[in-house]
Amino acid sequence: MSQPQRPEKVVVDFRGGVIKPYTRKKEVRLSELREYFSNVEEAEKILLKGKDPLIYEYYEYIYSEAAGNLNLGLTIIYPGKIGKEYYMTKGHFHERDAAEFYFCLKGRGMLLMQNKDGEVSVVELEPGSLGYVPPGWGHRTINTGRGKLVFFFAYPSDAGHNYTIIKERGFAMIVVEEAKAPKVVPNPKYHKT
Ligand SMILES: [Fe+2]
Repeated sequence: MSQPQRPEKVVVDFRGGVIKPYTRKKEVRLSELREYFSNVEEAEKILLKGKDPLIYEYYEYIYSEAAGNLNLGLTIIYPGKIGKEYYMTKGHFHERDAAEFYFCLKGRGMLLMQNKDGEVSVVELEPGSLGYVPPGWGHRTINTGRGKLVFFFAYPSDAGHNYTIIKERGFAMIVVEEAKAPKVVPNPKYHKT
């Protein structure tokens, strides 16, 4: 019989953008994201110059993988673009019917969601706004601002992550800068099936 779980305190540093404690930290650089951007040639060009910019990083606090728990985390997406497309996360679907929320602490961005039929929905993020991802919707976050985008998230610990669908098909829409403003436009590389 496993030990009964004990309550815990997790502290979110709103300004610094860190949660304490955390059990895992991951940095995602352009080299890991190149094929997710619509302009792969531009990504290759940057990498060929010997640069590999940090696109985003996250801190996760996984208390327990057992069903019934929540995984908590905090993501920082840095400002920037590859071609016209803003820095963003890879995006994923959950393996099981599991919701998630993204609570914006700092910066400006968008939470892009897509269901299995290819229907797209966007929630704009600014400090204090919470984007709710219902079960069954793939999700990606995009930094459309000039500073860091920082948000706090929580999801059921047994949700599971599927990155393959997004990697192979992409999202139907992407977020690009047009006339100095973010615009959601069709993804030229999107494969529906
Ligand atoms: Fe998720």
